[in-house]
Amino acid sequence: MPLPQSVKIVEVGPRDGLQNEALSVPVKVKVELINKLVDAGLSVVEAGSFVSPKWVPQMASSGEVYLAIQQWAIQKRIIQKHSSVSYPMLVPNMKGLELALEVGVTEIAIFVAATEAFSQNNINCSIEKSIERYQQVVQKAQAENVKIRGYISCVLGCPYEGKVSNDVVANIALRLQDLGCYEISLGDTIGVGTPTNALEMIETVARKVEIEQLAAHFHDTYGQALANIYAVLQAGVSIFDSSIAGLGGCPYAKGASGNVATEDLLYMLNGMNIETNVDMEKLLIAGDYINQFLSRQSTSKVALAVENRTTDDQG
Ligand code: HMG
Ligand code: MG
Repeated sequence: MPLPQSVKIVEVGPRDGLQNEALSVPVKVKVELINKLVDAGLSVVEAGSFVSPKWVPQMASSGEVYLAIQQWAIQKRIIQKHSSVSYPMLVPNMKGLELALEVGVTEIAIFVAATEAFSQNNINCSIEKSIERYQQVVQKAQAENVKIRGYISCVLGCPYEGKVSNDVVANIALRLQDLGCYEISLGDTIGVGTPTNALEMIETVARKVEIEQLAAHFHDTYGQALANIYAVLQAGVSIFDSSIAGLGGCPYAKGASGNVATEDLLYMLNGMNIETNVDMEKLLIAGDYINQFLSRQSTSKVALAVENRTTDDQG
C-alpha cells in the first residue's frame, strides 16, 4: 500500500503528558502551551480531562484551562480562520461529561481498556461496565452535538496481564465504533510494541474498522514508537497521537514513559514528504516553553529541599 500523502497529528501532551507530571503546572502555563501548539498548526490538541481529581490531581483545572483557550481562540479568530481546530477532553463517565458540557466542550474522548486488570486499575470498573456507562455518555453527548473520539489502552501489552490478543482489541474497536466514536485511537500504553506486532495488530483491527478511522498512540518506553509508526504508516494509518517534548505516561501503568515526541514525529514525516501543516520552528518554541518551565520548577524544588535541609541541620 502506498504511504499516505498527509497525516493528522493529534497532540496529546497537555493531557497525556501533563497528567503524569510530578510537578504541578499552573493553568496559565497549560493555556500558553496549548495556544503555542495551535499556533504551530496543530488542528487537534487534547487539552485536559474531566476525571476524578482524587485519582489524577494534575487535571483538576481542566475546566478553567478549557475556558481560557476558547477565549484565546476567539480573540485570535483561530476558530474562524481554522474552523477545524478541536480540543478534545477525556471523559470517564457521566459526571465527566456534565463538567465538560458546563464549559462548552465540543469534543470528548472516552477510553476503554483491552484488559480487565488495566480497566480496574485505571477506571475502577470492568471493561463491560465501562462500555455500558459510555452508552449513556455517548447518547447525551450526541444529543448536545459533541463529537466522540475513542481510545483503547494496552493494545500491545498490559502492565498487569502481559500479552493482549489482537482479536480482543479488534472487537472492542468495533464496539467503540458502534457506540458512535468517529475515530478510534489504539494505545500502546506501556510502549512494549515493536513494528511486527504493531503492524499485525493494526491489520487485525482494520478487518473490523476502516483504517481511515484508526489512530495509533505509541508510548515510547523502549524507543520503539517511531519504528512502530513507520510500520503502520505502510498499512495506511494516517492519524498519529504524539506529545510535545515526549512528555508523559499513564499514572496507572507503572514505568510507562511519554508518547512519541511530536517534534520527532514531525521530523520524520517532513523527511518523508508527508504533509502535516505543522510548522517545525513554532513547534520547537512550544516544546522549549514547557521544557524550560518544568526544568525551572524542578530546580526550584531541589533548591527548596536543600534550603530546608540546611535549616534543619542548623536547627
Ligand atoms: P470511582 O472512585 O470508582 O468513582 O472512580 P465514583 O463514581 O465512586 O466517585 C468517587 C468520587 O469521585 C466522588 O466524589 C465523585 O463525585 C468523584 P466524592 O463523593 O468522593 O467527593 N467523581 C468525579 N469527579 C470529577 N470528575 C469525574 C468524576 N467521577 C467521579 N468525572 C473514576 C472512577 C472513573 C472517576 C476514576 O477511576 C477516574 O477518574 N479515573 C481516571 C483515571 C485516568 O484519568 N487515567 C489516565 C487517563 S487514561 C490514559 O492515559 C490512557 C490513554 O492515554 C491511552 C493509552 O495510552 O493507552 C488515553
Ligand atoms: Mg496514553
